[in-house]
Amino acid sequence: MATKIAQNAKVLVLCGGLSHERDISIASGHRVAGYLEEAGWDAATHDMDGALLDYLHDPDTRPDVVWPLLHGANGEDGSIRDILEMAGLPYVGTRPVPSRTAWNKPIAKSLVAHAGLSTPRSVTLPESMFMELGAQGAMKLLVESLGLPLFVKPTMGGSALGCTLVTEASALPQAMVTCFAYGQVALIEQAVIGTEVSVSIIDAADGEGASPLILPPIEIETHGIYDYEARYTPGPTKFYVPARLDASVLATVQDAALTAHQALGLEDISRTDFIVDSDGVPQFLEVNVAPGMTESSLLPQAAVADDHHLPELYSSLASKALARGARR
Ligand SMILES: Nc1ncnc2c1ncn2[C@@H]1O[C@H](COP(=O)(O)OP(=O)(O)O)[C@@H](O)[C@H]1O
Ligand SMILES: [Mg+2]
Repeated sequence: MATKIAQNAKVLVLCGGLSHERDISIASGHRVAGYLEEAGWDAATHDMDGALLDYLHDPDTRPDVVWPLLHGANGEDGSIRDILEMAGLPYVGTRPVPSRTAWNKPIAKSLVAHAGLSTPRSVTLPESMFMELGAQGAMKLLVESLGLPLFVKPTMGGSALGCTLVTEASALPQAMVTCFAYGQVALIEQAVIGTEVSVSIIDAADGEGASPLILPPIEIETHGIYDYEARYTPGPTKFYVPARLDASVLATVQDAALTAHQALGLEDISRTDFIVDSDGVPQFLEVNVAPGMTESSLLPQAAVADDHHLPELYSSLASKALARGARR
């Protein structure tokens, strides 16, 4: 791993932003900055606001490397990474185009399916389609074609906002309304019943042929879906690292996460969400280029359970990005 830190190297963790996940991003960003400081970096945080560009350009504050830890559209759809590239600053994580691809769930699903992974059968429909064709007919067709239960979510989003598990056709209209409150396009998937797991990848290896670290799958046990409340309220959700699955299934899930990471062209850090179905097959749900890094987030929990020292692990990612910047 690349762990050498340049003397007084400045790292700036970007967090906040205007997404629905602003608070989570701030919590994640402050934790990561704290760990980087502990590892010897000159670490600071900054919001995505009107003062940011000046801060990035001012020679007194300009960082050597940036860690974009913004969730939601601007953070994960590639746009902040485009800004950092235009500003000539190296950063931790995936480049703009693959970020944009991963952020769009239906596109990511089709790419990982092409790479051989299983993902629930689905349809992607914009709100305007329901208005033009008539919502009743469109929803009838959905239930006839995909069956029940269904899972409805915005094509782009996070923290399960706008998501609904639909077990009866009569609940579909409300699920669509909830979804369209968060985005103009809906992904309607067959619901998978099984074990929910998430696999984080840390690729701090600097150089050809070095293999990324695939953390052990973390199992999420909830009563219902792993929604906003289940994520950020202590208590009702239980986590198991590694997931309570056979060793061969655990290995399959880890392989699937690496396949997704590589098929989508992701760099440095990713977290892929799956539900392992009753046949032991990991069904790909989505991948995150800026996974949560709060105390209760999945990636740090899996890393700590696997005996990694977070300051060292995060520092290795910042060092790799710094070295990459120097090469570019
Ligand atoms: N097809 C599905 N079947 C059953 N549950 C699902 C399905 N898709 C998502 N979920 C549940 O909804 C949660 C959020 O979905 P996900 O696709 O991971 O979006 P995000 O985390 O970006 O909001 C998952 O953690 C899972 O609990
Ligand atoms: Mg998810």
